[in-house]
Amino acid sequence: MNQLILGDCLEVLKKLESESVDLIYLDPPFFSNRNYEVIWGDKGEVRSFEDRWSGGVEHYIGWLKERVEQMHRVLKPTGSIFLHCDWHAGSYIQVFILDKIFGIQNFRNQIVWKRTTTHNDAKQGAKQFGRVCDFIFFYSKNAKIAQFNTLYEEYRQEYILQTYNKKDTKGLFKASDLSAAKPGGNTSYEWKGIKPPKGRYWAFSIENMEEFERQDKIYYSSTGKPYLKHYLDEMPGVTVDDFWTNCIFKSKEERIGYPTQKPEALLERIIKCATNEEDVVLDPFNGGGTTVAVADKFNRQWIGIDSSVAAIKVTQFRLDKKQTDIFAKPFTVQLHKYDYDTLRYKDAFEFEKFIVQQIGGTSNTKQRGDLGLDGKTQDGIPIQVKRSDNIGRNVIDNFFSAVQRFDKNLFEKNKAENKTAGVIIAFSFGKGAIEEVARLKNQDGVMIQLLKVEDIIPIAKKPTLTLKFNDLGVDAKKLREIEFIATAESDAGIEFYAWDWNYENNVFKFDIVNDKIGKQTQKFKAGTHCIAVKVVDNDGLESIEVITLKINGDVFAI
Ligand SMILES: C[S@@+](CC[C@H](N)C(=O)[O-])C[C@H]1O[C@@H](n2cnc3c(N)ncnc32)[C@H](O)[C@@H]1O
Repeated sequence: MNQLILGDCLEVLKKLESESVDLIYLDPPFFSNRNYEVIWGDKGEVRSFEDRWSGGVEHYIGWLKERVEQMHRVLKPTGSIFLHCDWHAGSYIQVFILDKIFGIQNFRNQIVWKRTTTHNDAKQGAKQFGRVCDFIFFYSKNAKIAQFNTLYEEYRQEYILQTYNKKDTKGLFKASDLSAAKPGGNTSYEWKGIKPPKGRYWAFSIENMEEFERQDKIYYSSTGKPYLKHYLDEMPGVTVDDFWTNCIFKSKEERIGYPTQKPEALLERIIKCATNEEDVVLDPFNGGGTTVAVADKFNRQWIGIDSSVAAIKVTQFRLDKKQTDIFAKPFTVQLHKYDYDTLRYKDAFEFEKFIVQQIGGTSNTKQRGDLGLDGKTQDGIPIQVKRSDNIGRNVIDNFFSAVQRFDKNLFEKNKAENKTAGVIIAFSFGKGAIEEVARLKNQDGVMIQLLKVEDIIPIAKKPTLTLKFNDLGVDAKKLREIEFIATAESDAGIEFYAWDWNYENNVFKFDIVNDKIGKQTQKFKAGTHCIAVKVVDNDGLESIEVITLKINGDVFAI
């Protein structure tokens, strides 16, 4: 299930099954200003920007509404949506999109998320109050049956000081009244010489009081009046309300370095309240992948969609980084183009299965047998997939006899009706194969169809990449400064470079991502260092170069 998909979320959503998703969080581009809205700057994002910007706010609302309609369709009846926006279009979104599609009765909260403070920036509050909050609209598909887990947060310090103001050897506690207004059985007894206050009763039976006493849970005031102890450590905290102030970035490492990235703490709250383990979380405006990274961390299944190649690839690298954690789950990345080398050297059985599915056929479940056939089309016509180039005459002849044996009646019927008897798929076909197919047709009246992989799925070559370095000398702290220059070429154009200064075990854990130039300077201690650079092109295809440097009095590549 875990998938990153490149594309306009409208088109991708249309292909998702109805009622298949438990939670949708979306942080669409706001209706704000030009510079802030274009984060990645690649073709996909700019096209989307132009799409929604070409008219005023009404145009933006129309653009978003048709996408939210699809989101409503894919949500399960127990599912919920959290739509993140700011002051620019928040009110329009609530009234013209969410109320209309989800219904006012399914509105749950308008969460106010305090994303920043005004600090000492006098300008922010000079003409109107500083705008430091975003809004997250929480709607359910059906509020009556929606999944919701109560969340708690720690008590505020001032509340603890005021309320949990007593202490014993077990810790801080608050003391609550043990009397009640109404009698509950025999509750007017005398406890240690004290009767309940006038007109009141004890809240518990004498047996319960004795149990509290045994557990040392009764606190006595200076006048001897009993109270029940509630220890701070045993309380769940306070239930979360709709004003969120502490969902902030927890460390510098969490920041990937682009303006609209949301903190993981914010998504943790949303995911934990609206889903359980194995539920499906969808983010149709994935960005740098905060939602899917958090969903992965908490064992939810996930789908992330973005129209920008850069967003999808940055997320892929972010997840690859997390995949070093043994608990992370595998995922697939769907781009618009497939890399020839990756396909060509993929596991043969996986490749056959994938290709047969791409033409709407059914693949064989077994890896061997079945006369070397790999599947059949929707009409039952046998398919053979070859993960190689320049297929020769002998492949056609072997296939021809396998097709006859596979289903004699079907073979004869197709022959009689001048229909295709079988399909062979490969990267390319040699002259001999093409001539043999023509001979079978002309002499025996049998039609074999030859399909190239590139006729089925778009294929491209990944970018070429070279890496050079220049020794810039030693600094005052005896660190060696080195300049790295990566140069890449691709027909599609280069999108970005990413760098890992400590590449280990074939796992790329970027230190720098979305570098548009391919030039970096880094300082190293003496020793051996393995450095990797990746380049990503506008189709999302990537290449990697790795260099190992031995740094001592000098610098050598080894
Ligand atoms: C505000 S960012 C999301 C940031 C994200 N929440 C995070 O924490 O990283 C919005 C994203 O929506 C993407 N986007 C814009 N139009 C889109 C469309 N039509 N379909 C899918 N994604 C789109 C942009 O490329 C951008 O990455």
